[in-house]
Amino acid sequence: MTTSLSVNINKIATLRNARGENNPDLLKVALDCERFGADGITVHPRPDERHIKRNDVFQLRPALKSEFNIEGYPSPEFMDLVLKVKPAQVTLVPDAPDALTSSAGWNVADNFDFLTSIVNALHEAGIRSSIFVSTDIDNIMLAAKTGTDRVELYTKPYADAFFANPEKAVAPFVEASRAAHKAGLGVNAGHDLSLQNLRYFAQSVPFLNEVSIGHALICDALYMGLAETIRSYKDCLAK
Ligand code: PXP
Repeated sequence: MTTSLSVNINKIATLRNARGENNPDLLKVALDCERFGADGITVHPRPDERHIKRNDVFQLRPALKSEFNIEGYPSPEFMDLVLKVKPAQVTLVPDAPDALTSSAGWNVADNFDFLTSIVNALHEAGIRSSIFVSTDIDNIMLAAKTGTDRVELYTKPYADAFFANPEKAVAPFVEASRAAHKAGLGVNAGHDLSLQNLRYFAQSVPFLNEVSIGHALICDALYMGLAETIRSYKDCLAK
């Protein structure tokens, strides 16, 4: 099974917003990512629009040929946006509106009814759902009970522990992915994946449908260029 690469383009919007005009052109970068081999494009529109703006999401939707993944906290405003735009996938993250970046998965038990109703609303609109979670197996089993199609495993703990002991770092993710697959869930992964740690992750973790990568990939593109960078990330995913 091949693992898809979804490129998170939030950082491109951050750079653009720094000068208030349209350089770099977010839409062009997204289309170039596709041209260079990305299997999907991810955005995280936040309420303060500090990177991706609501309008970007509407512009991207009809232009993209690959899978569009919108991630965010399912506030009424966020749900209004995604139900209008109807991307291929919505990834539900629990972070507060002013969070620098997502820093934890959902506690599904505490949010079970809420998540179930959100997953239902997405399904009624024909949108695939993914719930951002840690590797806690009981939590993943509860996520399955919401009816979600997939979970996204929060990989920062893997990235942090990778250099000291890769085998130990990846072990909980191997177990979590197996359990999720057994419960009928698809498995995505993301956060702090990089050219250093991605190949080992993709080779070790079974049933990996998709990785979503932003920060490290855009940083690498400063030195390697976007085309070469995307080729290199795709190469890490080649089995
Ligand atoms: N997955 C989720 C849910 C995220 O919030 C982010 C960051 O926007 C990513 C993946 C990508 O993380 P990174 O930018 O560290 O590659």
